Amino acid sequence: MNHGGNIYQFAQRLGCLPEQVLDFSANINPLQAVDLSCLQQVQLTPYADPDYGLLKQAIKQRYPYPSGIDIELFNGASAAIFALLRNLQPKDLVCYAPLYGEYAHIAGEMGCKVQYINRFNQLMADIPERSTVIFVNPSTPDGQLYDLNELLAKWQAANCTIIIDESFLDFSTARDGGRDCSRQSSAFPPSMEVRSAAMGREPMRPTAKDDGRDCSRQSSAFPPSMEVRSAAMGTKPMRCADSVAEQIAGYDKLYLIKSLSKFYGCAGIRIGFILAATAAIKELRRFEPAWKLSSLDMAYMQQALANTDFIAQTRQQTTHLRGLLHQVLYDSGLFDKIYPGQANFLLARLANQGDGYQLQAHLETARILIRVCDNFASLDKSHVRFAVKDEQAITRLAGSLQIIVGAATRPRTVRDCSRPSGRSHNLCV
Ligand SMILES: Cc1ncc(COP(=O)(O)O)c(C=O)c1O
Repeated sequence: MNHGGNIYQFAQRLGCLPEQVLDFSANINPLQAVDLSCLQQVQLTPYADPDYGLLKQAIKQRYPYPSGIDIELFNGASAAIFALLRNLQPKDLVCYAPLYGEYAHIAGEMGCKVQYINRFNQLMADIPERSTVIFVNPSTPDGQLYDLNELLAKWQAANCTIIIDESFLDFSTARDGGRDCSRQSSAFPPSMEVRSAAMGREPMRPTAKDDGRDCSRQSSAFPPSMEVRSAAMGTKPMRCADSVAEQIAGYDKLYLIKSLSKFYGCAGIRIGFILAATAAIKELRRFEPAWKLSSLDMAYMQQALANTDFIAQTRQQTTHLRGLLHQVLYDSGLFDKIYPGQANFLLARLANQGDGYQLQAHLETARILIRVCDNFASLDKSHVRFAVKDEQAITRLAGSLQIIVGAATRPRTVRDCSRPSGRSHNLCV
């Protein structure tokens, strides 16, 4: 599958209903910010406000941006990506890979010259003057959060057009600096972080200088026991990781793309946006139709954005459940590397160059769908991604992984899958 989240195809193949699929392949918040009954008041007869005034106001309150910057809304961030690249018509495109596949898709259709820079080992590689650069932060499919300051300076010095996709940024917390989210919430809950108990080190937070090459060291050394610490125990409140939004005012070739479907747990509500310099948005808008968004989508999203308690709740829950998911993946012994993700998903690499499709086949008996990442540039089929889901789902995943490991370590009669050395298991059942 090219994307995560195709539960319909998967369910059809298994002969079950889509809602019976346990979907770890799409990175959607399991929490929801809105009671659907609010949609009963929505007027469907008139056309919606073509300027999307109330929704834009709600977005600006949630994601403040200074004057000189404007916003354009789209039916999801994927539509925003296509519209922006069609509008910019870049000749030289530089994609920091691995990254969300739709960038390469539209670039291919447009016949752009695409250069991939591997974020893991050539982050600071040279880029062509006046090229268009694309960076997803936190990145997919590994969830690594980057401090982009050094790269932004480099791109600006090369007179590049810059596209930053922050669709997963709301899940990430900055240890120091960043915006204080507690001010946005009326009831800020105790902040929680998952710490490595045995090592007692800070949560992993790569920067632009830390190009991620030591991820394997971090994950392979990850200790079996983890603890959840709360603010009451002496940690600082969680802060949102920094957005590049404010920097648009100082560089008029900087574009920020954001999906609202991930954090607000509503991939069925199609809203995403682009922030850019006012003149750049005016140019983009010339090619956009009126009434792109439905009244239902807008009403839902306005309610979601108004729920400020949801921000801290989600961040707290994601941090906790990501720790739990990490533990389950680690305990299975199937993986030799778990990337230190800062978003609502984790990327893991199967030990001994295992086959992600084989793992998927085993998980099908439990109707569990995962994302094999071989169609991400610079990854292969040993890389699999798991969304952070609720505790019950993670427990079911743990049970299924244990069954696979049990079968893999039982004496073989038909095929010989000799047991690997160390604590990692071969995926050979
Ligand atoms: C990095 C990134 N940007 C954008 C999108 C598209 O989001 P939307 O659902 O709003 O189209 C995705 C979807 O997975 C994504 O991973």
